[in-house]
Amino acid sequence: MSNFLYQLIKTRRSTRKFTAQAVEKEKIDTILNAALMSPSSKNTQAWHFVVVEDKAVLQRLSESREQGSQFLAGAPLAIVVLAEDNGSVWIEDTAIASAYIQLQAESAGLGTCWVQVRDRMKDETLSTEDYIRSLLDIPQGYKILNIIAVGYKDGEKNPHDDTKLKLEKIHYGKF
Ligand SMILES: Cc1cc2nc3c(=O)[nH]c(=O)nc-3n(C[C@H](O)[C@H](O)[C@H](O)COP(=O)(O)O)c2cc1C
Repeated sequence: MSNFLYQLIKTRRSTRKFTAQAVEKEKIDTILNAALMSPSSKNTQAWHFVVVEDKAVLQRLSESREQGSQFLAGAPLAIVVLAEDNGSVWIEDTAIASAYIQLQAESAGLGTCWVQVRDRMKDETLSTEDYIRSLLDIPQGYKILNIIAVGYKDGEKNPHDDTKLKLEKIHYGKF
């Protein structure tokens, strides 16, 4: 297989080390446009995206979990993906938008990594969500799925090897 999207999917790996280079405004706009074109249940488009480039805020975001978020301090850009709490499918809608962000960024020569927010704790008493809600002035009634770190990759990772896929996960006809 050699088509463009397939190659992009193969090469996308989570990037947790970024160069200091800022992401160009045009690339940020294209990534956000892609998110705004992602499919959503009943086309409700309940998602919102908070774009963070301020170093001090990125530092605070990096402290939003005890582990798994620290590398955000070295990212030039983060996109916080959230949605109006519409009861059921906000998770699917924001997850799909996140995947669009990751693939569009990859196609612009950038690396990304998903940092989970939903159902995670900053410490024993404070949820990651409430910590970010207060940091970014996110009103009650909005749920936060994740933070996507975006930037130029500092180093390359091996692409996925599609000769070693877990084909036993595929079931034809019945499980
Ligand atoms: C729902 C979800 C939550 C994730 N949470 C984190 C996280 O909090 N921190 C992190 O460093 N990576 C996180 N990741 C990235 C995964 O660790 C990564 O996608 C996985 O190991 C596969 O590696 P790859 O992205 O390079 O293919 C998350 C990915 C997904 C899809």
